[in-house]
Amino acid sequence: MTGIQIRLAEIIEALSKALDMTEGQPEGHCIRCCYIGTHIGREIGLNEEQLRDLYYTLLLKDLGCSSNAARICELYLADDLSFKRDFKLVDGSLSQVLRFVIGHTGMQARLAERFRGILNILQNGGTFATELIQTRCQRGAEIARQMRFSESVAQGILGLDEHWNGGGKPNGIAGEELPLFSRIALLAQVIDIFHVSGGRDSALQEITKRKGEWFDPDLVETFVQISARSGFWDVLGSPDLEAIVLESEPGQQAIMADEDYLDDIAAGFAKVIDAKSPYTSGHSDRVALFSDLIAEEMGVDFDGRRLLKRAALLHDIGKLGISNSVLDKPGKLDEEEWGQMKRHSEFSEQILSTIGAFQSAAIIGGAHHERLDGKGYPRGLEAQDISMDVRIVSTADVFDALTADRPYRAAMSIETALAILREGAGTAHDPICIAALERALARTPLQQVA
Ligand SMILES: [Fe+2]
Ligand SMILES: [Fe+2]
Repeated sequence: MTGIQIRLAEIIEALSKALDMTEGQPEGHCIRCCYIGTHIGREIGLNEEQLRDLYYTLLLKDLGCSSNAARICELYLADDLSFKRDFKLVDGSLSQVLRFVIGHTGMQARLAERFRGILNILQNGGTFATELIQTRCQRGAEIARQMRFSESVAQGILGLDEHWNGGGKPNGIAGEELPLFSRIALLAQVIDIFHVSGGRDSALQEITKRKGEWFDPDLVETFVQISARSGFWDVLGSPDLEAIVLESEPGQQAIMADEDYLDDIAAGFAKVIDAKSPYTSGHSDRVALFSDLIAEEMGVDFDGRRLLKRAALLHDIGKLGISNSVLDKPGKLDEEEWGQMKRHSEFSEQILSTIGAFQSAAIIGGAHHERLDGKGYPRGLEAQDISMDVRIVSTADVFDALTADRPYRAAMSIETALAILREGAGTAHDPICIAALERALARTPLQQVA
Protein backbone atom coordinates (compact mmCIF):
# COMPACT_ATOMS: atom_id res chain seq x y z
CA MET A 1 0.00 0.00 0.00
CA THR A 2 2.85 2.40 0.68
CA GLY A 3 3.90 4.53 -2.25
CA ILE A 4 0.33 5.07 -3.52
CA GLN A 5 -0.05 8.53 -5.02
CA ILE A 6 -3.40 10.26 -5.29
CA ARG A 7 -4.13 13.66 -6.78
CA LEU A 8 -4.59 16.21 -4.05
CA ALA A 9 -7.03 18.26 -6.15
CA GLU A 10 -9.34 15.27 -6.50
CA ILE A 11 -9.53 14.79 -2.75
CA ILE A 12 -9.99 18.48 -2.00
CA GLU A 13 -12.72 18.87 -4.62
CA ALA A 14 -14.66 16.02 -3.03
CA LEU A 15 -14.20 17.39 0.48
CA SER A 16 -15.27 20.84 -0.68
CA LYS A 17 -18.72 19.35 -1.26
CA ALA A 18 -18.95 18.57 2.43
CA LEU A 19 -18.18 22.24 3.09
CA ASP A 20 -21.01 23.22 0.72
CA MET A 21 -23.38 21.15 2.86
CA THR A 22 -22.33 22.92 6.03
CA GLU A 23 -22.76 26.31 4.42
CA GLY A 24 -26.25 25.35 3.25
CA GLN A 25 -25.10 25.91 -0.33
CA PRO A 26 -26.18 23.88 -3.34
CA GLU A 27 -23.56 21.21 -4.11
CA GLY A 28 -20.64 22.44 -6.16
CA HIS A 29 -20.53 25.99 -4.73
CA CYS A 30 -16.81 25.85 -3.85
CA ILE A 31 -15.97 24.20 -7.17
CA ARG A 32 -17.84 26.94 -9.06
CA CYS A 33 -16.07 29.60 -6.97
CA CYS A 34 -12.80 27.94 -7.93
CA TYR A 35 -13.69 28.19 -11.62
CA ILE A 36 -14.72 31.85 -11.30
CA GLY A 37 -11.81 32.93 -9.09
CA THR A 38 -9.03 31.21 -11.04
CA HIS A 39 -10.30 32.93 -14.20
CA ILE A 40 -9.88 36.25 -12.42
CA GLY A 41 -6.42 35.24 -11.18
CA ARG A 42 -5.26 34.27 -14.69
CA GLU A 43 -6.63 37.48 -16.15
CA ILE A 44 -4.71 39.67 -13.72
CA GLY A 45 -1.49 37.81 -14.53
CA LEU A 46 -0.79 35.67 -11.45
CA ASN A 47 1.97 33.12 -11.98
CA GLU A 48 1.35 29.38 -11.81
CA GLU A 49 2.42 29.05 -8.21
CA GLN A 50 0.15 31.90 -7.10
CA LEU A 51 -2.67 30.46 -9.16
CA ARG A 52 -2.26 27.13 -7.45
CA ASP A 53 -2.53 28.74 -4.03
CA LEU A 54 -5.55 30.68 -5.21
CA TYR A 55 -7.10 27.48 -6.56
CA TYR A 56 -6.88 25.78 -3.15
CA THR A 57 -7.97 28.92 -1.28
CA LEU A 58 -11.16 28.92 -3.35
CA LEU A 59 -11.87 25.23 -2.80
CA LEU A 60 -11.20 25.47 0.93
CA LYS A 61 -12.50 28.96 1.71
CA ASP A 62 -15.23 27.51 3.96
CA LEU A 63 -12.92 25.22 5.94
CA GLY A 64 -13.83 26.96 9.18
CA CYS A 65 -17.53 27.07 8.41
CA SER A 66 -18.62 24.30 10.75
CA SER A 67 -17.05 26.03 13.74
CA ASN A 68 -19.74 28.68 14.09
CA ALA A 69 -22.76 26.53 13.25
CA ALA A 70 -23.61 25.70 16.86
CA ARG A 71 -23.30 29.33 17.93
CA ILE A 72 -25.59 30.48 15.10
CA CYS A 73 -28.21 28.05 16.29
CA GLU A 74 -27.91 29.17 19.87
CA LEU A 75 -27.95 32.91 19.11
CA TYR A 76 -30.45 33.00 16.35
CA LEU A 77 -32.56 30.03 17.49
CA ALA A 78 -32.43 28.94 13.90
CA ASP A 79 -31.47 26.19 11.53
CA ASP A 80 -27.84 26.98 10.74
CA LEU A 81 -27.97 25.60 7.21
CA SER A 82 -30.76 27.80 5.85
CA PHE A 83 -29.51 30.74 7.95
CA LYS A 84 -26.08 30.59 6.34
CA ARG A 85 -27.50 30.14 2.87
CA ASP A 86 -29.87 33.09 3.12
CA PHE A 87 -27.45 35.38 4.98
CA LYS A 88 -25.16 35.35 1.96
CA LEU A 89 -27.91 37.07 -0.03
CA VAL A 90 -28.07 39.99 2.42
CA ASP A 91 -26.03 43.03 1.39
CA GLY A 92 -25.62 44.63 4.79
CA SER A 93 -28.11 47.52 4.45
CA LEU A 94 -30.11 48.05 7.63
CA SER A 95 -33.50 47.26 6.13
CA GLN A 96 -32.23 44.02 4.64
CA VAL A 97 -30.52 42.98 7.84
CA LEU A 98 -33.66 43.69 9.88
CA ARG A 99 -35.86 41.78 7.48
CA PHE A 100 -33.39 38.92 7.65
CA VAL A 101 -33.12 38.84 11.43
CA ILE A 102 -36.87 38.95 11.94
CA GLY A 103 -37.44 36.39 9.22
CA HIS A 104 -34.84 33.94 10.51
CA THR A 105 -34.79 34.29 14.24
CA GLY A 106 -36.47 31.41 15.91
CA MET A 107 -38.74 30.22 13.15
CA GLN A 108 -39.18 27.05 15.20
CA ALA A 109 -39.13 28.66 18.63
CA ARG A 110 -42.07 29.70 20.74
CA LEU A 111 -43.18 33.31 20.54
CA ALA A 112 -41.70 34.67 23.79
CA GLU A 113 -38.38 32.98 23.15
CA ARG A 114 -38.43 34.26 19.60
CA PHE A 115 -39.06 37.80 20.76
CA ARG A 116 -36.16 37.64 23.22
CA GLY A 117 -33.95 36.23 20.48
CA ILE A 118 -34.77 39.06 18.08
CA LEU A 119 -34.23 41.72 20.74
CA ASN A 120 -30.89 40.23 21.70
CA ILE A 121 -29.70 40.19 18.11
CA LEU A 122 -30.87 43.71 17.34
CA GLN A 123 -28.97 44.97 20.38
CA ASN A 124 -25.84 42.89 19.92
CA GLY A 125 -25.95 41.83 16.29
CA GLY A 126 -22.66 43.49 15.36
CA THR A 127 -20.69 41.84 18.16
CA PHE A 128 -22.25 38.47 17.43
CA ALA A 129 -21.42 38.69 13.75
CA THR A 130 -17.81 39.66 14.46
CA GLU A 131 -17.44 36.79 16.88
CA LEU A 132 -18.97 34.28 14.47
CA ILE A 133 -16.77 35.34 11.59
CA GLN A 134 -13.62 35.49 13.69
CA THR A 135 -14.05 31.91 14.86
CA ARG A 136 -14.82 30.74 11.39
CA CYS A 137 -11.87 32.39 9.67
CA GLN A 138 -9.23 31.63 12.28
CA ARG A 139 -10.27 28.05 12.51
CA GLY A 140 -10.32 27.68 8.73
CA ALA A 141 -6.83 29.12 8.38
CA GLU A 142 -5.51 26.83 11.13
CA ILE A 143 -6.92 23.72 9.50
CA ALA A 144 -5.51 24.77 6.10
CA ARG A 145 -2.04 25.01 7.68
CA GLN A 146 -2.48 21.58 9.25
CA MET A 147 -3.37 20.24 5.81
CA ARG A 148 0.01 21.57 4.60
CA PHE A 149 -1.27 24.49 2.56
CA SER A 150 0.87 27.60 2.27
CA GLU A 151 0.55 30.71 4.38
CA SER A 152 -1.03 32.55 1.42
CA VAL A 153 -3.87 30.01 1.41
CA ALA A 154 -4.29 30.40 5.17
CA GLN A 155 -4.28 34.21 4.89
CA GLY A 156 -6.75 34.06 2.01
CA ILE A 157 -9.17 32.10 4.20
CA LEU A 158 -8.54 34.35 7.18
CA GLY A 159 -9.62 37.48 5.27
CA LEU A 160 -12.63 36.01 3.51
CA ASP A 161 -15.22 38.24 5.16
CA GLU A 162 -13.28 41.50 5.03
CA HIS A 163 -14.53 44.17 2.62
CA TRP A 164 -12.68 46.55 0.30
CA ASN A 165 -14.03 49.63 2.14
CA GLY A 166 -13.00 48.34 5.57
CA GLY A 167 -16.58 47.57 6.60
CA GLY A 168 -16.03 43.80 6.75
CA LYS A 169 -15.28 41.46 9.63
CA PRO A 170 -13.55 40.59 11.87
CA ASN A 171 -10.71 43.14 11.56
CA GLY A 172 -12.06 45.82 9.21
CA ILE A 173 -9.01 45.61 6.94
CA ALA A 174 -9.38 47.78 3.81
CA GLY A 175 -8.13 48.14 0.23
CA GLU A 176 -4.74 46.79 -0.77
CA GLU A 177 -4.11 45.62 2.80
CA LEU A 178 -6.64 42.89 2.20
CA PRO A 179 -5.05 39.66 0.93
CA LEU A 180 -5.67 39.39 -2.80
CA PHE A 181 -6.95 35.83 -2.50
CA SER A 182 -9.56 36.92 0.06
CA ARG A 183 -10.74 39.65 -2.29
CA ILE A 184 -11.08 37.22 -5.17
CA ALA A 185 -12.74 34.54 -3.02
CA LEU A 186 -15.40 36.90 -1.65
CA LEU A 187 -16.16 38.18 -5.15
CA ALA A 188 -16.37 34.64 -6.56
CA GLN A 189 -18.62 33.60 -3.70
CA VAL A 190 -21.14 36.38 -4.28
CA ILE A 191 -21.09 35.82 -8.05
CA ASP A 192 -21.91 32.15 -7.59
CA ILE A 193 -24.63 32.67 -5.03
CA PHE A 194 -26.46 35.29 -7.07
CA HIS A 195 -25.92 33.41 -10.31
CA VAL A 196 -27.45 30.26 -8.84
CA SER A 197 -30.39 32.09 -7.27
CA GLY A 198 -31.11 34.72 -9.94
CA GLY A 199 -29.07 34.14 -13.09
CA ARG A 200 -26.12 35.94 -14.66
CA ASP A 201 -27.72 39.41 -14.77
CA SER A 202 -28.47 39.22 -11.10
CA ALA A 203 -24.84 38.25 -10.36
CA LEU A 204 -23.45 41.11 -12.46
CA GLN A 205 -25.89 43.58 -10.98
CA GLU A 206 -24.98 42.58 -7.44
CA ILE A 207 -21.23 42.87 -7.85
CA THR A 208 -21.58 46.20 -9.64
CA LYS A 209 -23.73 47.46 -6.79
CA ARG A 210 -21.14 46.46 -4.18
CA LYS A 211 -18.13 47.56 -6.25
CA GLY A 212 -15.85 49.75 -4.15
CA GLU A 213 -17.78 48.78 -1.00
CA TRP A 214 -17.37 45.03 -0.64
CA PHE A 215 -15.24 44.49 -3.69
CA ASP A 216 -12.00 45.69 -5.20
CA PRO A 217 -13.27 47.76 -8.20
CA ASP A 218 -10.49 46.50 -10.50
CA LEU A 219 -11.42 42.89 -9.84
CA VAL A 220 -15.08 43.62 -10.56
CA GLU A 221 -14.06 45.20 -13.89
CA THR A 222 -11.89 42.21 -14.68
CA PHE A 223 -14.73 39.84 -14.00
CA VAL A 224 -17.20 41.83 -16.10
CA GLN A 225 -14.82 41.42 -19.05
CA ILE A 226 -14.32 37.70 -18.43
CA SER A 227 -18.05 37.15 -18.14
CA ALA A 228 -18.68 38.68 -21.57
CA ARG A 229 -16.58 35.99 -23.25
CA SER A 230 -18.43 33.29 -25.06
CA GLY A 231 -18.77 30.06 -23.19
CA PHE A 232 -17.89 31.38 -19.72
CA TRP A 233 -21.35 31.01 -18.19
CA ASP A 234 -22.14 27.85 -20.12
CA VAL A 235 -19.15 26.08 -18.61
CA LEU A 236 -20.06 27.41 -15.16
CA GLY A 237 -23.47 25.76 -15.43
CA SER A 238 -22.22 22.61 -17.09
CA PRO A 239 -22.43 19.18 -15.42
CA ASP A 240 -18.78 18.63 -16.43
CA LEU A 241 -17.55 21.56 -14.37
CA GLU A 242 -16.06 19.36 -11.65
CA ALA A 243 -13.90 17.50 -14.17
CA ILE A 244 -12.97 20.76 -15.91
CA VAL A 245 -11.85 22.35 -12.64
CA LEU A 246 -9.85 19.23 -11.79
CA GLU A 247 -8.15 19.29 -15.18
CA SER A 248 -7.31 22.96 -14.91
CA GLU A 249 -5.33 22.66 -11.67
CA PRO A 250 -2.56 25.25 -12.08
CA GLY A 251 1.11 24.29 -12.00
CA GLN A 252 3.29 22.14 -14.22
CA GLN A 253 2.34 18.97 -12.45
CA ALA A 254 -0.57 17.96 -10.30
CA ILE A 255 0.23 17.78 -6.57
CA MET A 256 0.13 14.18 -5.43
CA ALA A 257 -0.72 13.05 -1.92
CA ASP A 258 1.19 10.15 -0.35
CA GLU A 259 -0.01 8.09 2.60
CA ASP A 260 1.36 10.51 5.20
CA TYR A 261 -0.34 13.41 3.50
CA LEU A 262 -3.65 11.50 3.42
CA ASP A 263 -3.33 11.07 7.19
CA ASP A 264 -2.88 14.83 7.60
CA ILE A 265 -5.86 15.57 5.37
CA ALA A 266 -8.06 13.17 7.33
CA ALA A 267 -6.89 14.65 10.64
CA GLY A 268 -7.50 18.19 9.38
CA PHE A 269 -10.96 17.36 8.16
CA ALA A 270 -11.79 15.61 11.41
CA LYS A 271 -11.38 19.04 13.02
CA VAL A 272 -13.95 20.50 10.63
CA ILE A 273 -16.35 17.69 11.55
CA ASP A 274 -15.79 17.96 15.29
CA ALA A 275 -16.15 21.76 15.26
CA LYS A 276 -19.72 21.45 14.07
CA SER A 277 -21.15 20.79 17.52
CA PRO A 278 -19.83 21.41 21.03
CA TYR A 279 -21.00 17.91 21.90
CA THR A 280 -18.85 16.25 19.29
CA SER A 281 -15.71 18.20 20.09
CA GLY A 282 -12.83 15.71 19.86
CA HIS A 283 -15.17 12.82 18.98
CA SER A 284 -13.52 11.85 15.67
CA ASP A 285 -10.03 11.91 17.21
CA ARG A 286 -11.16 9.74 20.11
CA VAL A 287 -12.99 7.25 17.89
CA ALA A 288 -9.77 6.97 15.85
CA LEU A 289 -7.81 6.32 19.04
CA PHE A 290 -10.25 3.69 20.38
CA SER A 291 -10.47 2.02 16.96
CA ASP A 292 -6.71 1.81 16.88
CA LEU A 293 -6.54 0.35 20.38
CA ILE A 294 -9.08 -2.32 19.41
CA ALA A 295 -7.30 -3.06 16.11
CA GLU A 296 -3.90 -3.32 17.77
CA GLU A 297 -5.30 -5.72 20.35
CA MET A 298 -6.79 -7.81 17.54
CA GLY A 299 -3.45 -7.98 15.73
CA VAL A 300 -4.40 -5.86 12.69
CA ASP A 301 -1.26 -4.92 10.71
CA PHE A 302 0.16 -1.41 10.28
CA ASP A 303 -1.51 -0.66 6.93
CA GLY A 304 -4.85 -1.95 8.13
CA ARG A 305 -4.66 0.16 11.26
CA ARG A 306 -3.77 3.21 9.23
CA LEU A 307 -6.86 2.82 7.02
CA LEU A 308 -9.02 2.23 10.07
CA LYS A 309 -7.75 5.35 11.80
CA ARG A 310 -8.44 7.44 8.72
CA ALA A 311 -11.92 5.98 8.38
CA ALA A 312 -12.60 6.62 12.05
CA LEU A 313 -11.49 10.25 11.66
CA LEU A 314 -13.96 10.73 8.82
CA HIS A 315 -16.86 8.42 9.80
CA ASP A 316 -19.17 11.29 10.81
CA ILE A 317 -18.30 13.65 7.95
CA GLY A 318 -21.97 13.47 6.91
CA LYS A 319 -22.89 15.33 10.10
CA LEU A 320 -21.73 18.46 8.29
CA GLY A 321 -24.98 18.19 6.36
CA ILE A 322 -27.20 18.00 9.47
CA SER A 323 -28.52 21.12 11.16
CA ASN A 324 -27.30 21.94 14.66
CA SER A 325 -30.90 22.41 15.71
CA VAL A 326 -31.03 18.59 15.45
CA LEU A 327 -27.44 17.72 16.46
CA ASP A 328 -27.49 19.82 19.63
CA LYS A 329 -31.12 19.41 20.65
CA PRO A 330 -31.24 18.98 24.42
CA GLY A 331 -34.38 16.81 24.42
CA LYS A 332 -35.51 13.73 22.59
CA LEU A 333 -35.59 14.03 18.81
CA ASP A 334 -39.03 13.80 17.22
CA GLU A 335 -39.61 11.43 14.33
CA GLU A 336 -38.72 13.91 11.63
CA GLU A 337 -35.57 15.08 13.42
CA TRP A 338 -34.49 11.51 14.01
CA GLY A 339 -34.98 10.86 10.31
CA GLN A 340 -32.66 13.79 9.54
CA MET A 341 -30.08 12.63 12.07
CA LYS A 342 -30.01 9.14 10.59
CA ARG A 343 -29.13 10.54 7.18
CA HIS A 344 -25.63 11.48 8.34
CA SER A 345 -24.18 8.03 7.67
CA GLU A 346 -25.58 8.08 4.12
CA PHE A 347 -24.01 11.49 3.60
CA SER A 348 -20.69 10.20 4.94
CA GLU A 349 -20.73 7.39 2.41
CA GLN A 350 -21.75 9.71 -0.39
CA ILE A 351 -18.93 12.19 0.25
CA LEU A 352 -16.17 9.66 0.86
CA SER A 353 -17.10 7.29 -1.98
CA THR A 354 -16.11 9.91 -4.55
CA ILE A 355 -12.50 9.79 -3.31
CA GLY A 356 -10.62 6.79 -4.66
CA ALA A 357 -8.24 6.71 -1.69
CA PHE A 358 -11.08 6.72 0.85
CA GLN A 359 -13.14 3.77 -0.41
CA SER A 360 -12.81 1.76 2.77
CA ALA A 361 -13.58 4.88 4.79
CA ALA A 362 -16.74 5.31 2.67
CA ILE A 363 -17.96 1.82 3.56
CA ILE A 364 -17.26 2.37 7.25
CA GLY A 365 -18.84 5.84 7.18
CA GLY A 366 -21.97 4.45 5.60
CA ALA A 367 -22.29 1.45 7.92
CA HIS A 368 -21.10 2.63 11.33
CA HIS A 369 -24.65 2.64 12.73
CA GLU A 370 -25.54 -0.85 11.49
CA ARG A 371 -26.09 -3.56 14.10
CA LEU A 372 -25.38 -7.29 14.08
CA ASP A 373 -29.08 -8.08 14.65
CA GLY A 374 -30.10 -6.15 11.51
CA LYS A 375 -31.78 -3.37 13.49
CA GLY A 376 -29.26 -0.68 12.60
CA TYR A 377 -29.46 2.03 9.97
CA PRO A 378 -29.48 3.12 7.18
CA ARG A 379 -29.68 -0.27 5.44
CA GLY A 380 -30.51 -2.65 8.27
CA LEU A 381 -27.60 -4.87 7.18
CA GLU A 382 -27.35 -8.43 8.48
CA ALA A 383 -24.30 -9.55 10.49
CA GLN A 384 -22.65 -11.35 7.55
CA ASP A 385 -22.63 -8.08 5.60
CA ILE A 386 -20.95 -6.06 8.33
CA SER A 387 -17.17 -6.25 7.98
CA MET A 388 -14.77 -6.46 10.91
CA ASP A 389 -13.51 -2.94 10.08
CA VAL A 390 -17.02 -1.57 10.44
CA ARG A 391 -17.50 -3.49 13.70
CA ILE A 392 -14.30 -2.06 15.15
CA VAL A 393 -15.19 1.55 14.35
CA SER A 394 -18.80 1.22 15.46
CA THR A 395 -17.72 -0.24 18.80
CA ALA A 396 -15.26 2.63 19.27
CA ASP A 397 -17.94 5.11 18.21
CA VAL A 398 -20.50 3.94 20.75
CA PHE A 399 -17.92 3.72 23.50
CA ASP A 400 -16.96 7.33 22.90
CA ALA A 401 -20.58 8.46 22.63
CA LEU A 402 -21.31 6.87 26.03
CA THR A 403 -18.26 8.30 27.76
CA ALA A 404 -18.74 11.86 26.42
CA ASP A 405 -21.32 14.51 27.31
CA ARG A 406 -24.37 14.53 25.08
CA PRO A 407 -27.01 17.27 24.70
CA TYR A 408 -29.51 15.03 26.52
CA ARG A 409 -27.29 13.44 29.22
CA ALA A 410 -23.95 13.70 31.01
CA ALA A 411 -20.95 11.48 30.29
CA MET A 412 -20.95 7.95 31.72
CA SER A 413 -18.07 6.30 33.52
CA ILE A 414 -15.89 3.88 31.55
CA GLU A 415 -17.20 0.97 33.60
CA THR A 416 -20.84 1.84 32.90
CA ALA A 417 -20.09 2.32 29.21
CA LEU A 418 -18.38 -1.07 28.98
CA ALA A 419 -21.27 -2.70 30.82
CA ILE A 420 -23.72 -1.26 28.29
CA LEU A 421 -21.56 -2.45 25.41
CA ARG A 422 -21.38 -5.94 26.95
CA GLU A 423 -25.16 -6.04 27.25
CA GLY A 424 -25.44 -5.47 23.51
CA ALA A 425 -22.67 -7.95 22.64
CA GLY A 426 -23.77 -10.12 19.72
CA THR A 427 -26.91 -8.09 19.02
CA ALA A 428 -25.63 -4.55 18.62
CA HIS A 429 -21.85 -4.93 18.58
CA ASP A 430 -19.27 -7.61 18.06
CA PRO A 431 -18.18 -9.38 21.29
CA ILE A 432 -14.63 -9.75 19.89
CA CYS A 433 -14.30 -5.98 19.48
CA ILE A 434 -15.76 -5.29 22.90
CA ALA A 435 -13.38 -7.75 24.54
CA ALA A 436 -10.43 -6.23 22.64
CA LEU A 437 -11.44 -2.76 23.80
CA GLU A 438 -11.67 -3.95 27.40
CA ARG A 439 -8.25 -5.53 27.25
CA ALA A 440 -6.76 -2.45 25.60
CA LEU A 441 -8.27 -0.14 28.20
CA ALA A 442 -6.99 -2.34 30.99
CA ARG A 443 -3.49 -1.93 29.61
CA THR A 444 -3.78 1.83 28.98
CA PRO A 445 -3.65 4.40 31.75
CA LEU A 446 -7.24 5.68 31.69
CA GLN A 447 -6.47 9.35 32.09
CA GLN A 448 -4.70 9.22 28.73
CA VAL A 449 -7.72 8.02 26.81
CA ALA A 450 -10.58 9.49 28.80
FE1 LIG B 1 -22.40 8.60 13.47
FE1 LIG C 1 -19.65 9.05 15.55
